[in-house]
Amino acid sequence: MNAPPPLASLRQRFPALADGSLAPLDNAATTHRPQAVLDALARFYVESNANVHRANHRLGAAATAAYEGARRRVARFLGAQAEEVVFTRNATEGINLVARGFLEARLQAGQSVCVSRLEHHSNLVPWQELCKRTGARLHWLEIDDHARLAPPFEFPDDAAFVACTRVSNAVGTIVDTTALVRAAHARELPVLLDITQAAGHLPLDEGTREADFLALSAHKMYGPMGLGVLVGRGERLAQIEPQLFGGEMVESVSAEGARFRDPPWRLEAGTPAVAPAAAFVPALDLLDEFGVEAIRAHELELLQRLLDGLAAIDSVSVVGPASAAERSGAVSLALGGADAHTVGTILDMAGVAVRAGFHCAEPLLRQIGCGPTLRASVAAYSNTHDVDRFLAALPEAVEAARFS
Ligand code: ALA
Repeated sequence: MNAPPPLASLRQRFPALADGSLAPLDNAATTHRPQAVLDALARFYVESNANVHRANHRLGAAATAAYEGARRRVARFLGAQAEEVVFTRNATEGINLVARGFLEARLQAGQSVCVSRLEHHSNLVPWQELCKRTGARLHWLEIDDHARLAPPFEFPDDAAFVACTRVSNAVGTIVDTTALVRAAHARELPVLLDITQAAGHLPLDEGTREADFLALSAHKMYGPMGLGVLVGRGERLAQIEPQLFGGEMVESVSAEGARFRDPPWRLEAGTPAVAPAAAFVPALDLLDEFGVEAIRAHELELLQRLLDGLAAIDSVSVVGPASAAERSGAVSLALGGADAHTVGTILDMAGVAVRAGFHCAEPLLRQIGCGPTLRASVAAYSNTHDVDRFLAALPEAVEAARFS
């Protein structure tokens, strides 16, 4: 096998970053896409444009091959079987599908759904709504003052399900999901892991390989928007009741009713996101070409540089774990009263893209006593120049925001 290319060369594959004008540090919201992904999107519509699983001409065969090939590629990346992979619109849709299609029929009034305090709204609101409909309750897995969720993991006697993130999108905490999944399985509790912020940033841990359900969004790992993945291990997909009905998911239909296809196809009603699925493949190829372990090591160095630089800026304080090793991706800052959105706008004028706000994790930021924060988040193509531009522009931006 060839040695992976040096990570410094990866950025050249991303045309949106080519002119060097932007320090892209809003990667937790969405990453940029390499030329190979853009080419694959266009190529699909030129060379393989047809609907899948039904057209009997050559383009139909090409479209089906591209779509089912993408399913196999995703499965290989995640250490799963192709039949365990459902394409969705995004991680949110996958999580909602598990809430409505799997858990609702199994959840009784008085039982609890365990969620961590770290969750993005997409892995919280579906469970809140499910609890409302069923009379179940949420049980919070609590974090410490540094937004860490540490073992031992304990679940109440009435627990029926566990849903947790692998990495917090808002503050960057890595969760020991191997310990979490094993503790849940010791109690025979099914577990859903939201791996949206971890996939492509951290090597797969055993917990991710063992969890009952995984959800992710392709656009956060250099793939197209509009495509998500839900993995259901073993029999789990067969235990999900479809929530969307119509074409594509049926085996046969009579005037009286329909017989559904096997999973995963019964969970993919209507024309799926064929071109985005086909174009996700080069994104996964890129991750494997450079290697997720090397990407993790690179991002860790950048996180350390960020944390060291921020420690020297008095007007800001870092929220979340103190050590880079406990983090992935995002570093969130409290700004001592300066308005985060104003700071974000001033940084934008300096060519630094970050995110300000609650980062779709409002209960988390309130729990740890913050209002909106300023968040910088790194990706595989980030470099020390991005970090240094942010660190150089930040003190003045905070100062200016105070007086605006
Ligand atoms: N979930 C996205 C973020 O963290 C939108 O910014």
